[in-house]
Amino acid sequence: MRVHVADHPLITHKLTALRDERTPSAVFRQLTEELVTLLAYEATRSVRVEEIDIRTPVTETRGVRIATPRPIVVPILRAGLGMLEGMVKLIPTAEVGFLGMVRNEETLEPSTYAERLPDDLSDRQCFVLDPMLATGGSLGAAIEFLFKRGAQDVTAICLLAAPEGVEAIQKQVGDRDVTLVLGSLDERLNEKGYIVPGLGDAGDRLYGTV
Ligand code: PRP
Ligand code: URA
Repeated sequence: MRVHVADHPLITHKLTALRDERTPSAVFRQLTEELVTLLAYEATRSVRVEEIDIRTPVTETRGVRIATPRPIVVPILRAGLGMLEGMVKLIPTAEVGFLGMVRNEETLEPSTYAERLPDDLSDRQCFVLDPMLATGGSLGAAIEFLFKRGAQDVTAICLLAAPEGVEAIQKQVGDRDVTLVLGSLDERLNEKGYIVPGLGDAGDRLYGTV
């Protein structure tokens, strides 16, 4: 598994504003979108392309376009939805599938409550969006789901991750083709399974308390 932790002052600046408990939902949503676009640049480094011939106003030349089958972007509901717009701005031709997951805040076990994905993901490059990688339960279940449907490789973009979650995903995926692109690798999980220093509950901060 490859793990890329962003190291860019603009990303750290935006993450600091995101973490700040005084940041209101509207600004939180805007920052989330901007951060995804910055992280997506790294996450799509290996996106498959095919060569095409085009004509500029000056001459003929060879370029590339995103190959088919098209990549698929999978936000994990609910908080991952806040990352979708920023991602599809960068790859507008991507398909979008959805996974709805929620973790039980007592046991920290995830459960899947919704799924809208193609039955066959063979040969598809999958980009999973979830702002928080805490214990790794939710992302781990999402990755298994995609590989069971035939996905070839999975790249997950998370704004914040705990070392415990990264380790759990590493153990789970073994030598399968998985990449994690992280805005920050934080210090640890607290006794309630929250990332420290973290940003609190990402879904609540994006959309309000349910
Ligand atoms: C949050 C977050 C992840 C999960 C991370 O979702 O968006 O999906 O928790 O925790 P884990 O790594 O320990 O599984 P939550 O279950 O709060 O649902 P929500 O997005 O609907 O708020
Ligand atoms: N889910 C969140 O939204 N925040 C955390 O810190 C951990 C899980």
